Amino acid sequence: MCGIVGHLGPKNSVDVVLEGLKRLEYRGYDSAGVSFISSSNDLMMYKKKGKIENLINEIKDKDISARSCIGHTRWATHGGVTDNNAHPHICEEMGIAMVHNGIIENAGELREFLTKEGIQFKSETDSETFLGLLIYHVRNGKNIKDAVIESFKKIHGFSAFVVLNKETSEIFSIKKGAPLVCGMNEVNSEVLVSSDPYALAGIADKIYFPEDEVLCHLSAANSNLLNFYELDGTKSKRYMSKKQSMTHDPAAKGDFEHYMLKEIYEQPELIRSLTQFYFQGEGKESLEAAVDLPRKNLHISACGTAYYAGLVIKDFFEQINRIPCRPEIASEFRYRNPILDKEDLALFISQSGETADTLAAQELCKKSGLKSLSIVNTEGSTLYRDCDVNLLIRAGVEIGVASTKAFTQQVLTGRTLSAVIQNKGMDDNLRNTLSQKYTLLAERIEELLDRSDEIKAVAGEIYRNKGFFYTGRGVYYPIALEGALKLKEIAYVHAEGYAAGELKHGPIALIDEEKVNVALVGPELYEKTVSNIQEIKARKGKIVTIGPEGKKDLEEISDYYIPINFDGLEELSPLYINVVNQLLAYHIAKFLGTDIDKPRNLAKSVTVE
Ligand code: M6R
Repeated sequence: MCGIVGHLGPKNSVDVVLEGLKRLEYRGYDSAGVSFISSSNDLMMYKKKGKIENLINEIKDKDISARSCIGHTRWATHGGVTDNNAHPHICEEMGIAMVHNGIIENAGELREFLTKEGIQFKSETDSETFLGLLIYHVRNGKNIKDAVIESFKKIHGFSAFVVLNKETSEIFSIKKGAPLVCGMNEVNSEVLVSSDPYALAGIADKIYFPEDEVLCHLSAANSNLLNFYELDGTKSKRYMSKKQSMTHDPAAKGDFEHYMLKEIYEQPELIRSLTQFYFQGEGKESLEAAVDLPRKNLHISACGTAYYAGLVIKDFFEQINRIPCRPEIASEFRYRNPILDKEDLALFISQSGETADTLAAQELCKKSGLKSLSIVNTEGSTLYRDCDVNLLIRAGVEIGVASTKAFTQQVLTGRTLSAVIQNKGMDDNLRNTLSQKYTLLAERIEELLDRSDEIKAVAGEIYRNKGFFYTGRGVYYPIALEGALKLKEIAYVHAEGYAAGELKHGPIALIDEEKVNVALVGPELYEKTVSNIQEIKARKGKIVTIGPEGKKDLEEISDYYIPINFDGLEELSPLYINVVNQLLAYHIAKFLGTDIDKPRNLAKSVTVE
């Protein structure tokens, strides 16, 4: 959730770290800070609550240059959002600074012990107990490397730590169950560490993914910039390395006002490139490998939007392949002692590949002997590394906290797998059929994007309303859930997704003229869904219908009717109805003036449970 960046090299490290933090601000944005060794060899620290801009304003007029720096953007867990609780935490006397991502579960106990040992705390955070442990071990004669190892051994829970040592300008990092990546640019003698490879794009040309409990040592020694150690101090080979393929385009938002809007508009192009990837490109192999996996039952685990994508995918696998599916929210699945059979397949869906609950669900399945498959965006992420087979969704970096393009790509990847399984492999016939469908889907979405002003006009009529019910039946039900999630997270409006037939079992009590029903209507169960809308209309609810075009009854019953062309593509229609929901949420949020790309209280990547 928090973003971490560390840099060591001849460039001004503070600039590199601030640039990295700006890129990671979408991960967490309660406060930000940096610590570095100044040219006069002092350990310096600046930290500020609020957006990273506050930190930049604080230091912009200072003449700062450093060869080694660590930085952090915080998403508060323990302790309020204050300057003091922001990271880094430092001990000037010993020349040590540290940043942390995760939760130290035994922080209370450690704090008590360390306080008795005379160590004073300056913040309310769990993170500072790690600094306390470092101080304790250094005081007791350990060198910094051993102090990091010994302190890390005392920590319970999932965390990543980065430590800066003034004496040698070295940086150490170590993690368990939290994302961490190192990067190197040998030509420039630069070495970096981060919670996200995106921070390193365009700087490091090689990236390294250490496994859990591997100590990474970033040093200024030209011939020895990056080393990995086991906890017993011996050299480690437990890391994966690859060329950095991610690029960073600073003008990535282009003419769009928000990343979210840009990402919504990217969808048609991404669908086309996914088609290319799986039908003609490198994706073929992983698709074939996925087809070969056992699948007596399919357990689908994910969180948030990725879970809703899983619900749509479930429908494909049950209706097309007749494979029994058990979709479950990962945070529930992991603690439920689920019934797992070695012949079953575990499917994990995630944009980041770093969601703590999804990773824990994967670990549980792995321990139970199940093969695991991911539908994932981030190549090299923990989920990607831990699963037996990975189907990449190729959505590119998704910056907007509200997931949009990832959902579409996840669903389509699942649809592709389901089709290939049904066809017992990919052949020209299937390739052509699917290519045609996906091309048509991309065109349909383009048509909807061209109607953004029409959707904006509807948003302008309803944005003041007090409560939204998104309803749908069958495969539109998960789309209703996803539509409601989009609205609540970016517009801060109370919204719920419901199966249309379920409203009368309780929630209908809430309906009055202040409430809006966004009714998703498909060709299936058409009349029954229209009856459900009638029930809301009779209670004076405002009706926004997204449904088949040319329907007189829908026009009459609706306050606002957004007609959709379903012809020839009913099966993939949830995906374009979802695009209407994305635009509706976006425009409502825009009218309400919220922070669309970085909505309050959220973080892009939820790496704590
Ligand atoms: O990175 P993941 O796909 O695993 O993330 C899962 C959820 O945290 C994520 O989809 C979240 O619900 C989004 N903010 C929704 O827009």
